[in-house]
Amino acid sequence: ENDIISKLPFKDYKVLITAGPTYEAIDPVRFIGNHSSGKMGFEIAKAAANLGAEVQLITGPSKETVTHSLINVTRVTNGEAMYNAVHTYYEDTDVAIMSAAVADYKPKQVADKKIKKSDSSLTIELEKTKDILKSCGKIKANQYLVGFALETNNELEHAKGKLLSKNLDLIVLNSLNDKGAGFGVSTNKVTFISKDGDVIENELKSKADVAKDLMDLILKKRNA
Ligand code: CTP
Ligand code: CA
Repeated sequence: ENDIISKLPFKDYKVLITAGPTYEAIDPVRFIGNHSSGKMGFEIAKAAANLGAEVQLITGPSKETVTHSLINVTRVTNGEAMYNAVHTYYEDTDVAIMSAAVADYKPKQVADKKIKKSDSSLTIELEKTKDILKSCGKIKANQYLVGFALETNNELEHAKGKLLSKNLDLIVLNSLNDKGAGFGVSTNKVTFISKDGDVIENELKSKADVAKDLMDLILKKRNA
């Protein structure tokens, strides 16, 4: 009995995870998106479920799939739908980990017919999307809230800024400067920065191992 509990330290925990990119429609055939593969979020979902957590995985368009009795996958297309799906589960969540690369802007108007080309240039007016993570930080009660930060310069400073401004407990800094880290690849080099001041740099490792390290750290911090 004790043995099972020590192997499944997240048993009875509800973990909410976002993954992948979002696609923001321009017209019926075009969108604004990004290169996020969803791999990191899917690995976190697997790591959490393997530790016994009940996982809600909300993902934007991704080729990744997962079959696990403890993982429920909700597939969405745009940031608005991801926001709604997250808030369906957030209140009843113990740990929320937002690894999705949500588009920061979306077309102000979505054309209902395919936009035809003309000789002149085309301007599409964009407006900001809702910041899902920030909205979770604002209404945070007992949730342990984890964000990601993708940075190319002044990485630590920017990541710490996001930790504070979004009211997070932990942020995972993803440096796009590192070879073998980031989009599409199965490895990642991250730094964990916690609200209580820890800065933990990691070696380049598989996203599966990053996910395991992350879950271990969350467990340590939650029980601290
Ligand atoms: N995030 C989110 N909703 C958004 C934008 C970002 O939930 N509309 C989350 C991401 O999932 C990530 C964190 O916020 O966990 C940081 O995302 P990032 O793109 O690094 O930062 P931004 O706050 O969007 O700022 P910027 O892109 O200008 O650096
Ligand atoms: Ca962003």
